Amino acid sequence: MVLSDTAPAARPLLHRPRRLRTSPAVRRLVRETRLHPAQLVAPLFVRPGRGIREPIASLPGQARLSVDELVIEAHRLAELGIGGLLLFGLPAAKDPEGSGAWVEDGIVQTALSALRAADLPLVLIADTCLCEYTSHGHCGPLLPSGTVDNDPALALLARTAVSQATAGADIVAPSAMMDGQVAAIRAALDAAGHPTTAIMAYAAKTASAFYGPFREAADSAPAMGDRRGYQMDPANGREARRETALDVTEGADILLVKPALPQLDVVAATRAAHDLPVAAYHVSGEYAMVHAAAERDWLDARAVLTESVTAIVRAGADIVITYAAADLARWLTEEGATTP
Ligand code: PBG
Repeated sequence: MVLSDTAPAARPLLHRPRRLRTSPAVRRLVRETRLHPAQLVAPLFVRPGRGIREPIASLPGQARLSVDELVIEAHRLAELGIGGLLLFGLPAAKDPEGSGAWVEDGIVQTALSALRAADLPLVLIADTCLCEYTSHGHCGPLLPSGTVDNDPALALLARTAVSQATAGADIVAPSAMMDGQVAAIRAALDAAGHPTTAIMAYAAKTASAFYGPFREAADSAPAMGDRRGYQMDPANGREARRETALDVTEGADILLVKPALPQLDVVAATRAAHDLPVAAYHVSGEYAMVHAAAERDWLDARAVLTESVTAIVRAGADIVITYAAADLARWLTEEGATTP
């Protein structure tokens, strides 16, 4: 008997994965990860003025909006079924402490009150940080050595969170990466009569080069030095787990991983280790580089952004903060039953 008579190829293959890839309908039926507009959060930049929609060159399709334009934008996002908004403020003036972050008539506070009055089905999330408001661009007050003084920063962040909750934020999102910020904010919110305001903690936020376009958009690049003294080293996965566990102990309600694609392992580990909702921030650089390549016809922006956000959800994110939120929601609605 010759060997080829019994060669495995002659037997029928028991499992042929391609059976489940034969048509759009079959692929849609067995698809494991589905995007929905309700899981998307749109970051928005609010600035002083009226009737202003100032395009952000580094973030195609995004603009710095005055409060009236922000409310119009929010109506549009609500109609698209987007889950929520994450607000960043560009104050009229900056100072070394960053007082624009917590004053009652601050830009984000004004925006929150206007959005609250519009009563839209959107979760209002406020970024709780000081770097957009400090004259030096760091996330807290500086010691003479130039490093951020951790504990005084906590008091200012707590004050900022309370002012945002008072103005109408459903969720505050501390992004300064100061040690103890979640506990300090939780205690301050409770003491100020805001026990139901939730905290979305930037649990694992690295000192990432992908924030470049954001710093241009928010005018928040540090005047000197960098943020490596408080943001995590992107090389450290175990440290991300420690940071996240600390935030859970301190009272975080939602765990945020940022940036998203460079940290899919951290998203998956966070999902596996905790039962709290996991959010991932698909940041400015992740969005801008897709558009830059698409402008050269090197990539298809719609396909790449859809694949990127799908991967982030597949890795374990329940919520994705992305500048592509409105586009994705539109594409998802258009696609309907015809997903390829
Ligand atoms: C504030 C903050 C930053 C981002 C969100 N909150 C900038 C930074 O840490 O330098 C970046 C978001 C993005 O790149 O889209 N600390």
